[in-house]
Amino acid sequence: MSAAESVLNPFSRARPRRFARSWALAACLALLAARGYAQDSYGYQPQAPDAAALGSGASLPDPAPAPASEVEPFYGPHQGGILTRAQGFTCFAVFDLTTAKREDVEALLKAWTKAAARMAVGLPAVPLALDPQQSAGDSGDALGVSPGHLTITFGFGAGLFVKDGKDRYGLASRRPKALVDLPRFPGDELVAQRTGGDLSVQACSDDPQVALHAVRELARLAGRTASVRWEQNGFIPQTPAGQTPRNLMGFEDGTMNPSTGDPTAMAKYVWVGAEGPDWMRDGTYLVVRPIRIALEHWDKMKLAFQEQTVGRYKYSGAPLTGTNERDPLDLAAKDANGDPVIPEDSHVRLAAPEENHGDQILRRPYSYDNNLRFTAERWPPWRQGMEVDAGLLFICYQRDPRTGFIPIFNRISRFDMMNQFVTHVGSGVFACPPGPKPGRYVGEDLFEN
Ligand code: HEM
Repeated sequence: MSAAESVLNPFSRARPRRFARSWALAACLALLAARGYAQDSYGYQPQAPDAAALGSGASLPDPAPAPASEVEPFYGPHQGGILTRAQGFTCFAVFDLTTAKREDVEALLKAWTKAAARMAVGLPAVPLALDPQQSAGDSGDALGVSPGHLTITFGFGAGLFVKDGKDRYGLASRRPKALVDLPRFPGDELVAQRTGGDLSVQACSDDPQVALHAVRELARLAGRTASVRWEQNGFIPQTPAGQTPRNLMGFEDGTMNPSTGDPTAMAKYVWVGAEGPDWMRDGTYLVVRPIRIALEHWDKMKLAFQEQTVGRYKYSGAPLTGTNERDPLDLAAKDANGDPVIPEDSHVRLAAPEENHGDQILRRPYSYDNNLRFTAERWPPWRQGMEVDAGLLFICYQRDPRTGFIPIFNRISRFDMMNQFVTHVGSGVFACPPGPKPGRYVGEDLFEN
Protein backbone atom coordinates (compact mmCIF):
# COMPACT_ATOMS: atom_id res chain seq x y z
CA MET A 1 0.00 0.00 0.00
CA SER A 2 1.38 3.42 -0.95
CA ALA A 3 1.69 6.30 1.52
CA ALA A 4 -1.18 8.07 -0.26
CA GLU A 5 -3.37 5.01 0.09
CA SER A 6 -2.51 4.64 3.74
CA VAL A 7 -3.64 8.21 4.42
CA LEU A 8 -6.88 7.58 2.61
CA ASN A 9 -7.43 4.40 4.56
CA PRO A 10 -6.95 5.18 8.26
CA PHE A 11 -7.34 1.52 9.16
CA SER A 12 -4.32 0.53 7.14
CA ARG A 13 -1.63 -0.95 9.40
CA ALA A 14 0.98 0.70 7.19
CA ARG A 15 -0.20 4.27 7.90
CA PRO A 16 2.42 6.79 9.12
CA ARG A 17 2.87 6.93 12.92
CA ARG A 18 2.02 10.61 13.24
CA PHE A 19 -1.22 10.02 11.45
CA ALA A 20 -2.01 7.12 13.78
CA ARG A 21 -1.48 9.35 16.78
CA SER A 22 -3.65 12.16 15.45
CA TRP A 23 -6.32 9.63 14.55
CA ALA A 24 -6.29 8.30 18.12
CA LEU A 25 -6.40 11.85 19.50
CA ALA A 26 -9.33 12.75 17.25
CA ALA A 27 -11.16 9.64 18.42
CA CYS A 28 -10.57 10.54 22.08
CA LEU A 29 -11.74 14.10 21.53
CA ALA A 30 -14.84 12.88 19.75
CA LEU A 31 -15.57 10.57 22.68
CA LEU A 32 -15.10 13.41 25.18
CA ALA A 33 -17.22 15.74 23.06
CA ALA A 34 -19.95 13.10 23.01
CA ARG A 35 -19.81 13.15 26.80
CA GLY A 36 -20.18 16.92 26.81
CA TYR A 37 -16.59 17.83 27.57
CA ALA A 38 -14.07 20.11 25.93
CA GLN A 39 -10.50 20.57 27.03
CA ASP A 40 -9.22 23.81 28.47
CA SER A 41 -6.55 24.88 30.91
CA TYR A 42 -8.49 23.64 33.93
CA GLY A 43 -8.84 20.11 32.59
CA TYR A 44 -12.11 18.98 31.17
CA GLN A 45 -15.10 21.25 31.49
CA PRO A 46 -18.58 21.36 30.02
CA GLN A 47 -18.53 23.15 26.66
CA ALA A 48 -21.34 25.42 27.68
CA PRO A 49 -23.16 25.72 31.00
CA ASP A 50 -25.58 22.82 30.98
CA ALA A 51 -29.16 22.92 32.20
CA ALA A 52 -28.13 22.15 35.76
CA ALA A 53 -25.55 24.93 35.77
CA LEU A 54 -28.17 27.36 34.57
CA GLY A 55 -30.49 26.24 37.34
CA SER A 56 -33.19 24.95 34.97
CA GLY A 57 -34.64 21.48 34.94
CA ALA A 58 -35.61 19.44 37.95
CA SER A 59 -33.19 19.76 40.80
CA LEU A 60 -32.66 18.31 44.22
CA PRO A 61 -34.05 20.57 46.97
CA ASP A 62 -31.20 22.49 48.58
CA PRO A 63 -30.02 21.29 51.98
CA ALA A 64 -30.45 23.65 54.95
CA PRO A 65 -27.83 26.43 54.96
CA ALA A 66 -24.99 26.03 57.46
CA PRO A 67 -25.39 27.54 60.96
CA ALA A 68 -24.54 31.25 61.14
CA SER A 69 -21.53 30.48 63.36
CA GLU A 70 -19.83 28.77 60.37
CA VAL A 71 -20.69 31.44 57.81
CA GLU A 72 -19.03 34.71 56.78
CA PRO A 73 -21.50 37.21 55.29
CA PHE A 74 -21.20 37.33 51.50
CA TYR A 75 -23.19 40.54 50.92
CA GLY A 76 -22.17 43.85 52.46
CA PRO A 77 -20.38 47.13 51.76
CA HIS A 78 -17.04 45.33 51.33
CA GLN A 79 -16.19 41.94 49.92
CA GLY A 80 -15.30 39.23 52.43
CA GLY A 81 -11.80 37.78 52.67
CA ILE A 82 -10.15 41.18 53.17
CA LEU A 83 -10.80 42.14 56.78
CA THR A 84 -11.91 38.60 57.62
CA ARG A 85 -9.49 36.94 60.05
CA ALA A 86 -7.42 34.70 57.79
CA GLN A 87 -9.00 31.27 57.55
CA GLY A 88 -6.67 28.27 57.54
CA PHE A 89 -6.56 27.72 53.78
CA THR A 90 -6.76 29.54 50.51
CA CYS A 91 -7.14 28.55 46.91
CA PHE A 92 -6.14 31.58 44.89
CA ALA A 93 -6.88 31.48 41.16
CA VAL A 94 -6.45 33.87 38.29
CA PHE A 95 -8.45 33.61 35.07
CA ASP A 96 -7.93 34.83 31.51
CA LEU A 97 -11.06 36.05 29.75
CA THR A 98 -11.38 34.13 26.51
CA THR A 99 -14.54 35.74 25.16
CA ALA A 100 -14.82 38.78 22.88
CA LYS A 101 -18.30 39.68 24.21
CA ARG A 102 -19.04 42.02 27.08
CA GLU A 103 -22.39 40.25 27.72
CA ASP A 104 -20.49 37.02 28.40
CA VAL A 105 -18.37 38.74 31.04
CA GLU A 106 -21.47 40.18 32.70
CA ALA A 107 -23.20 36.79 32.58
CA LEU A 108 -20.15 35.19 34.15
CA LEU A 109 -20.03 37.70 37.00
CA LYS A 110 -23.74 37.17 37.61
CA ALA A 111 -23.28 33.40 37.72
CA TRP A 112 -20.19 33.70 39.95
CA THR A 113 -21.95 36.03 42.39
CA LYS A 114 -24.90 33.68 42.69
CA ALA A 115 -22.70 30.63 43.11
CA ALA A 116 -20.39 32.35 45.63
CA ALA A 117 -23.35 33.47 47.76
CA ARG A 118 -24.66 29.89 47.76
CA MET A 119 -21.31 28.28 48.57
CA ALA A 120 -20.70 30.77 51.40
CA VAL A 121 -23.68 29.26 53.26
CA GLY A 122 -22.65 25.71 52.48
CA LEU A 123 -24.91 25.07 49.47
CA PRO A 124 -23.65 23.57 46.21
CA ALA A 125 -22.68 26.19 43.62
CA VAL A 126 -25.91 25.48 41.70
CA PRO A 127 -28.94 23.36 42.57
CA LEU A 128 -28.02 19.72 41.93
CA ALA A 129 -29.62 18.21 38.83
CA LEU A 130 -31.92 15.22 39.24
CA ASP A 131 -31.78 14.13 35.60
CA PRO A 132 -29.28 11.26 35.40
CA GLN A 133 -28.55 12.27 31.81
CA GLN A 134 -27.15 15.67 32.91
CA SER A 135 -24.04 16.57 34.81
CA ALA A 136 -24.92 17.15 38.47
CA GLY A 137 -23.86 20.78 38.02
CA ASP A 138 -21.59 20.69 41.10
CA SER A 139 -18.83 18.21 41.90
CA GLY A 140 -20.53 17.43 45.22
CA ASP A 141 -17.23 17.08 47.03
CA ALA A 142 -18.19 19.71 49.62
CA LEU A 143 -21.68 18.32 50.23
CA GLY A 144 -22.52 18.08 53.92
CA VAL A 145 -19.28 19.84 54.87
CA SER A 146 -19.19 23.08 56.86
CA PRO A 147 -18.28 26.10 54.67
CA GLY A 148 -15.67 26.91 57.33
CA HIS A 149 -16.23 30.68 57.01
CA LEU A 150 -15.73 30.50 53.26
CA THR A 151 -15.07 33.86 51.64
CA ILE A 152 -14.69 34.42 47.91
CA THR A 153 -13.07 37.68 46.89
CA PHE A 154 -13.24 38.75 43.25
CA GLY A 155 -10.80 41.09 41.52
CA PHE A 156 -10.49 42.67 38.08
CA GLY A 157 -7.10 42.80 36.36
CA ALA A 158 -5.94 45.33 33.78
CA GLY A 159 -6.84 42.85 31.01
CA LEU A 160 -10.56 43.38 31.68
CA PHE A 161 -10.09 46.97 30.54
CA VAL A 162 -7.41 46.75 27.87
CA LYS A 163 -5.60 43.69 26.58
CA ASP A 164 -2.83 43.82 23.98
CA GLY A 165 -3.93 47.39 23.19
CA LYS A 166 -7.54 46.30 22.59
CA ASP A 167 -10.59 47.63 24.41
CA ARG A 168 -12.36 44.25 24.26
CA TYR A 169 -15.39 45.14 26.33
CA GLY A 170 -15.74 48.92 25.97
CA LEU A 171 -14.35 49.44 29.48
CA ALA A 172 -10.98 51.06 28.71
CA SER A 173 -12.11 54.52 29.85
CA ARG A 174 -13.29 53.07 33.17
CA ARG A 175 -9.94 51.61 34.18
CA PRO A 176 -9.03 53.10 37.55
CA LYS A 177 -5.77 55.03 37.62
CA ALA A 178 -4.76 53.05 40.69
CA LEU A 179 -4.97 49.78 38.72
CA VAL A 180 -1.40 50.20 37.57
CA ASP A 181 0.97 47.77 35.94
CA LEU A 182 3.69 47.09 38.48
CA PRO A 183 7.19 48.16 37.52
CA ARG A 184 9.87 45.50 37.26
CA PHE A 185 11.56 45.28 40.66
CA PRO A 186 15.19 44.27 41.19
CA GLY A 187 15.43 40.51 41.60
CA ASP A 188 12.06 39.75 40.01
CA GLU A 189 12.07 36.30 38.43
CA LEU A 190 8.45 36.29 37.33
CA VAL A 191 7.22 33.27 35.43
CA ALA A 192 4.31 33.69 33.04
CA GLN A 193 2.44 30.75 34.59
CA ARG A 194 2.16 32.63 37.89
CA THR A 195 1.80 36.19 36.59
CA GLY A 196 -0.94 38.50 35.31
CA GLY A 197 -4.49 37.52 34.37
CA ASP A 198 -7.85 39.25 33.91
CA LEU A 199 -9.91 38.12 36.92
CA SER A 200 -8.82 36.95 40.36
CA VAL A 201 -10.61 34.72 42.82
CA GLN A 202 -9.36 34.32 46.37
CA ALA A 203 -11.31 31.54 48.10
CA CYS A 204 -10.49 31.09 51.79
CA SER A 205 -11.93 28.57 54.22
CA ASP A 206 -11.05 26.67 57.35
CA ASP A 207 -11.31 23.53 55.19
CA PRO A 208 -8.89 23.17 52.24
CA GLN A 209 -11.35 21.09 50.24
CA VAL A 210 -14.03 23.77 50.55
CA ALA A 211 -11.65 26.42 49.22
CA LEU A 212 -10.59 24.21 46.32
CA HIS A 213 -14.21 23.26 45.62
CA ALA A 214 -15.19 26.93 45.37
CA VAL A 215 -12.56 27.67 42.73
CA ARG A 216 -13.30 24.45 40.87
CA GLU A 217 -17.00 25.28 40.63
CA LEU A 218 -16.32 28.86 39.53
CA ALA A 219 -13.97 27.49 36.86
CA ARG A 220 -16.73 25.14 35.70
CA LEU A 221 -19.19 28.04 35.46
CA ALA A 222 -16.64 30.00 33.46
CA GLY A 223 -17.21 27.56 30.58
CA ARG A 224 -15.69 29.14 27.52
CA THR A 225 -15.84 32.70 28.85
CA ALA A 226 -12.69 32.39 30.96
CA SER A 227 -10.04 29.81 31.72
CA VAL A 228 -7.70 29.40 34.67
CA ARG A 229 -4.31 30.99 34.07
CA TRP A 230 -2.70 30.16 37.37
CA GLU A 231 -3.67 28.86 40.76
CA GLN A 232 -1.96 28.51 44.12
CA ASN A 233 -3.11 26.79 47.29
CA GLY A 234 -1.97 28.19 50.61
CA PHE A 235 -2.23 27.56 54.34
CA ILE A 236 -1.50 29.20 57.67
CA PRO A 237 -1.47 27.70 61.14
CA GLN A 238 -4.62 28.35 63.13
CA THR A 239 -3.40 30.08 66.25
CA PRO A 240 -5.59 31.07 69.20
CA ALA A 241 -7.24 34.50 68.81
CA GLY A 242 -4.74 37.28 69.42
CA GLN A 243 -1.71 35.12 68.56
CA THR A 244 0.04 35.88 65.28
CA PRO A 245 0.59 32.89 62.95
CA ARG A 246 4.13 32.02 61.83
CA ASN A 247 5.25 31.74 58.23
CA LEU A 248 7.60 29.03 56.90
CA MET A 249 10.63 31.06 58.01
CA GLY A 250 9.40 30.47 61.54
CA PHE A 251 8.66 34.14 62.34
CA GLU A 252 5.33 35.60 63.37
CA ASP A 253 3.93 37.38 60.34
CA GLY A 254 1.22 40.02 60.64
CA THR A 255 2.18 41.73 63.89
CA MET A 256 2.37 45.27 62.55
CA ASN A 257 -0.61 45.13 60.21
CA PRO A 258 -2.96 48.09 60.53
CA SER A 259 -5.83 46.96 62.76
CA THR A 260 -8.78 45.49 60.86
CA GLY A 261 -10.94 46.45 63.85
CA ASP A 262 -10.16 50.14 63.35
CA PRO A 263 -12.54 51.61 60.72
CA THR A 264 -10.52 54.85 60.53
CA ALA A 265 -7.33 52.97 59.70
CA MET A 266 -9.16 50.79 57.16
CA ALA A 267 -10.69 53.86 55.50
CA LYS A 268 -7.25 55.44 55.36
CA TYR A 269 -5.22 52.49 54.09
CA VAL A 270 -7.55 49.90 52.56
CA TRP A 271 -10.85 51.21 51.18
CA VAL A 272 -11.13 53.35 48.09
CA GLY A 273 -12.78 56.66 49.00
CA ALA A 274 -13.99 59.73 47.14
CA GLU A 275 -11.00 59.54 44.79
CA GLY A 276 -12.97 56.75 43.12
CA PRO A 277 -13.88 55.88 40.47
CA ASP A 278 -17.42 55.54 41.85
CA TRP A 279 -17.72 51.86 40.98
CA MET A 280 -14.64 51.18 43.14
CA ARG A 281 -15.71 53.17 46.19
CA ASP A 282 -15.48 50.88 49.26
CA GLY A 283 -13.47 48.48 47.17
CA THR A 284 -9.71 47.94 47.39
CA TYR A 285 -6.67 46.86 45.36
CA LEU A 286 -5.05 43.48 45.73
CA VAL A 287 -1.40 42.80 45.01
CA VAL A 288 -0.38 39.15 44.93
CA ARG A 289 3.19 37.85 44.72
CA PRO A 290 4.05 34.16 45.00
CA ILE A 291 7.47 34.30 46.67
CA ARG A 292 9.73 31.27 46.71
CA ILE A 293 11.73 30.96 49.91
CA ALA A 294 14.98 28.98 49.78
CA LEU A 295 14.16 27.17 53.00
CA GLU A 296 17.04 24.78 52.44
CA HIS A 297 19.43 27.72 52.98
CA TRP A 298 17.39 29.71 55.50
CA ASP A 299 17.08 26.74 57.84
CA LYS A 300 20.87 26.50 58.11
CA MET A 301 21.32 30.12 59.21
CA LYS A 302 22.19 30.94 62.81
CA LEU A 303 19.35 32.19 64.96
CA ALA A 304 20.99 35.59 65.50
CA PHE A 305 21.50 36.05 61.75
CA GLN A 306 17.85 35.23 61.06
CA GLU A 307 16.79 37.74 63.72
CA GLN A 308 19.01 40.46 62.29
CA THR A 309 17.54 39.76 58.86
CA VAL A 310 13.96 40.17 60.01
CA GLY A 311 14.67 42.79 62.72
CA ARG A 312 12.71 40.84 65.32
CA TYR A 313 13.36 38.03 67.81
CA LYS A 314 12.25 34.69 66.45
CA TYR A 315 10.64 33.12 69.52
CA SER A 316 8.89 36.14 71.07
CA GLY A 317 8.28 38.10 67.87
CA ALA A 318 9.47 41.23 69.73
CA PRO A 319 11.44 43.88 67.82
CA LEU A 320 15.21 43.77 68.49
CA THR A 321 14.65 46.89 70.60
CA GLY A 322 11.87 45.38 72.76
CA THR A 323 10.74 42.41 74.80
CA ASN A 324 7.13 41.84 73.74
CA GLU A 325 5.70 41.19 70.28
CA ARG A 326 3.60 44.35 70.25
CA ASP A 327 6.36 46.68 71.45
CA PRO A 328 6.90 49.48 68.92
CA LEU A 329 10.07 49.42 66.81
CA ASP A 330 12.69 51.82 68.14
CA LEU A 331 14.36 52.68 64.88
CA ALA A 332 16.63 55.29 66.48
CA ALA A 333 18.18 52.89 69.03
CA LYS A 334 21.95 52.32 68.63
CA ASP A 335 24.18 49.57 70.04
CA ALA A 336 27.52 50.08 71.81
CA ASN A 337 29.27 50.53 68.43
CA GLY A 338 26.83 53.19 67.37
CA ASP A 339 25.13 50.88 64.85
CA PRO A 340 21.33 50.71 64.66
CA VAL A 341 19.96 47.87 66.81
CA ILE A 342 17.38 47.18 64.10
CA PRO A 343 19.74 46.91 61.12
CA GLU A 344 19.47 49.28 58.16
CA ASP A 345 18.85 46.34 55.82
CA SER A 346 16.46 44.41 58.07
CA HIS A 347 13.03 43.60 56.71
CA VAL A 348 10.97 45.39 59.35
CA ARG A 349 12.95 48.62 59.17
CA LEU A 350 12.62 48.80 55.38
CA ALA A 351 8.90 47.98 55.54
CA ALA A 352 7.99 50.18 58.53
CA PRO A 353 5.62 53.13 57.91
CA GLU A 354 8.11 55.43 59.70
CA GLU A 355 10.55 54.79 56.84
CA ASN A 356 7.90 54.90 54.10
CA HIS A 357 6.19 58.30 54.46
CA GLY A 358 3.53 56.63 56.64
CA ASP A 359 2.42 54.29 53.81
CA GLN A 360 0.71 51.10 54.99
CA ILE A 361 -0.82 48.00 53.46
CA LEU A 362 -2.99 45.24 54.89
CA ARG A 363 -1.05 41.99 54.50
CA ARG A 364 -3.01 38.73 54.29
CA PRO A 365 -0.42 36.17 53.19
CA TYR A 366 -0.55 32.37 53.11
CA SER A 367 2.33 29.92 53.05
CA TYR A 368 2.49 27.51 50.15
CA ASP A 369 4.17 24.20 49.48
CA ASN A 370 4.25 22.80 45.96
CA ASN A 371 6.21 19.78 47.11
CA LEU A 372 9.69 18.68 46.26
CA ARG A 373 10.91 18.52 42.72
CA PHE A 374 13.90 16.84 41.22
CA THR A 375 16.74 19.04 40.03
CA ALA A 376 20.05 18.29 38.31
CA GLU A 377 22.93 20.49 37.20
CA ARG A 378 25.83 19.12 35.15
CA TRP A 379 27.87 22.33 35.61
CA PRO A 380 28.92 23.91 38.90
CA PRO A 381 27.63 23.32 41.52
CA TRP A 382 27.22 19.80 39.97
CA ARG A 383 24.28 18.81 42.00
CA GLN A 384 21.52 16.34 41.69
CA GLY A 385 18.77 16.22 44.23
CA MET A 386 15.46 17.44 45.48
CA GLU A 387 14.48 21.10 45.70
CA VAL A 388 11.67 22.60 47.76
CA ASP A 389 9.13 24.75 45.91
CA ALA A 390 7.67 26.45 48.95
CA GLY A 391 7.28 29.99 50.16
CA LEU A 392 4.81 32.75 50.78
CA LEU A 393 1.79 33.60 48.70
CA PHE A 394 2.10 37.28 49.58
CA ILE A 395 -1.30 38.96 49.35
CA CYS A 396 -1.91 42.53 50.41
CA TYR A 397 -4.81 44.96 50.16
CA GLN A 398 -4.53 48.72 49.87
CA ARG A 399 -6.35 51.84 48.84
CA ASP A 400 -3.85 52.49 46.05
CA PRO A 401 -0.80 50.39 45.09
CA ARG A 402 1.03 53.59 44.15
CA THR A 403 1.11 54.58 47.82
CA GLY A 404 1.10 51.00 49.11
CA PHE A 405 2.94 48.04 47.71
CA ILE A 406 5.02 49.86 45.09
CA PRO A 407 6.96 52.34 47.26
CA ILE A 408 7.32 49.90 50.15
CA PHE A 409 8.53 47.04 47.97
CA ASN A 410 10.76 49.38 46.03
CA ARG A 411 12.91 49.75 49.15
CA ILE A 412 12.60 46.11 50.19
CA SER A 413 13.55 44.79 46.74
CA ARG A 414 16.74 46.87 46.73
CA PHE A 415 18.07 46.64 50.24
CA ASP A 416 16.46 43.82 52.24
CA MET A 417 18.84 41.18 53.69
CA MET A 418 15.96 38.75 53.27
CA ASN A 419 16.38 38.97 49.49
CA GLN A 420 19.17 36.40 49.74
CA PHE A 421 16.51 33.83 50.54
CA VAL A 422 13.36 34.97 48.74
CA THR A 423 12.53 35.27 45.03
CA HIS A 424 9.34 36.71 43.61
CA VAL A 425 8.22 34.23 40.96
CA GLY A 426 4.77 35.62 40.12
CA SER A 427 2.72 38.78 40.32
CA GLY A 428 -0.72 40.28 39.90
CA VAL A 429 -2.67 43.46 40.64
CA PHE A 430 -6.46 43.40 40.82
CA ALA A 431 -9.18 45.94 41.55
CA CYS A 432 -11.60 44.36 44.03
CA PRO A 433 -14.93 46.17 43.77
CA PRO A 434 -17.12 46.74 46.84
CA GLY A 435 -19.26 43.91 48.16
CA PRO A 436 -22.44 43.19 46.19
CA LYS A 437 -25.91 43.95 47.53
CA PRO A 438 -28.45 41.08 47.50
CA GLY A 439 -29.94 40.76 44.01
CA ARG A 440 -26.96 42.47 42.38
CA TYR A 441 -23.70 41.05 41.12
CA VAL A 442 -20.13 41.84 42.01
CA GLY A 443 -18.79 44.72 39.91
CA GLU A 444 -22.26 45.55 38.52
CA ASP A 445 -21.66 49.31 38.75
CA LEU A 446 -18.69 49.03 36.42
CA PHE A 447 -20.89 47.58 33.70
CA GLU A 448 -24.17 49.35 34.24
CA ASN A 449 -23.57 52.88 35.50
C1 HEM B 1 8.73 35.82 51.77
C2 HEM B 1 8.54 37.09 51.91
C3 HEM B 1 8.26 37.77 53.22
C4 HEM B 1 8.37 37.32 54.48
C5 HEM B 1 8.83 35.94 54.94
C6 HEM B 1 7.97 38.38 55.36
C7 HEM B 1 7.98 38.31 56.74
C8 HEM B 1 7.70 39.36 57.59
C9 HEM B 1 7.83 39.32 59.00
C10 HEM B 1 8.27 38.11 59.80
C11 HEM B 1 7.48 40.53 59.48
C12 HEM B 1 7.50 40.98 60.95
C13 HEM B 1 6.21 40.79 61.66
C14 HEM B 1 5.11 41.70 61.22
O1 HEM B 1 5.09 42.90 61.52
O2 HEM B 1 4.23 41.20 60.53
C15 HEM B 1 7.11 41.35 58.35
C16 HEM B 1 6.69 42.64 58.42
C17 HEM B 1 6.31 43.39 57.32
N1 HEM B 1 6.41 43.03 56.00
FE1 HEM B 1 7.06 41.28 55.29
N2 HEM B 1 7.61 39.46 54.61
C18 HEM B 1 7.77 39.13 53.30
C19 HEM B 1 7.53 39.91 52.21
C20 HEM B 1 7.06 41.19 52.27
C21 HEM B 1 6.75 42.00 51.12
C22 HEM B 1 6.91 41.57 49.65
C23 HEM B 1 6.29 43.16 51.56
C24 HEM B 1 5.83 44.24 50.64
C25 HEM B 1 5.59 45.40 50.73
C26 HEM B 1 6.27 43.10 53.02
C27 HEM B 1 5.84 44.09 53.87
C28 HEM B 1 5.91 44.05 55.25
C29 HEM B 1 5.44 45.11 56.11
C30 HEM B 1 4.78 46.41 55.66
C31 HEM B 1 5.72 44.70 57.41
C32 HEM B 1 5.44 45.49 58.70
C33 HEM B 1 6.61 46.34 59.05
C34 HEM B 1 6.38 47.12 60.32
O3 HEM B 1 5.50 47.97 60.33
O4 HEM B 1 7.06 46.81 61.29
N3 HEM B 1 6.75 41.88 53.40
N4 HEM B 1 7.26 40.61 57.20
